[in-house]
Amino acid sequence: MKILLLNGPNLNLLGQREPNIYGKNSLEELQKRFAKLEEEYNVKVDFFQSNHEGVLIDQLHEASMTKYNGIIFNPGAFTHYSYAIRDAIAAIDVPVIEVHISNVHTREAFRRESVISPVSVGQIVGFGLYGYELALKAMIEYILRGE
Ligand code: DQA
Repeated sequence: MKILLLNGPNLNLLGQREPNIYGKNSLEELQKRFAKLEEEYNVKVDFFQSNHEGVLIDQLHEASMTKYNGIIFNPGAFTHYSYAIRDAIAAIDVPVIEVHISNVHTREAFRRESVISPVSVGQIVGFGLYGYELALKAMIEYILRGE
């Protein structure tokens, strides 16, 4: 099983960026944690991060062509307004689980709307970096059930 863990804008700054909201751990630390999970669950997880909308869209298309079984995606602020990313998810045949580190529902009003959710399998919010791990478990379960 091959999973893509995709992170959008400003998530390269994890650990330094507003640590009171996003925590003190970096993306590299998350990647290290996932190296252990790959063994535990016998899955391959590739990491990719970009600050650019078009690059994320190319990556979604690419993930479909290179036969990823699932995508765990934190689209950052694009979540709230990128119809282009939403359309890219709708266009591919790979299931996407949306992840947000913070609880977007308790923050500014603009963060409550996700244009990504209607084309995603589900959304995990508010559990910090552990949300990515929850998403991995949920994705494996979803794929194995063959929905
Ligand atoms: C975020 C929430 C978004 O509103 C914000 O723009 C981010 C991070 C999160 O993981 O909590 O960049 O997606």
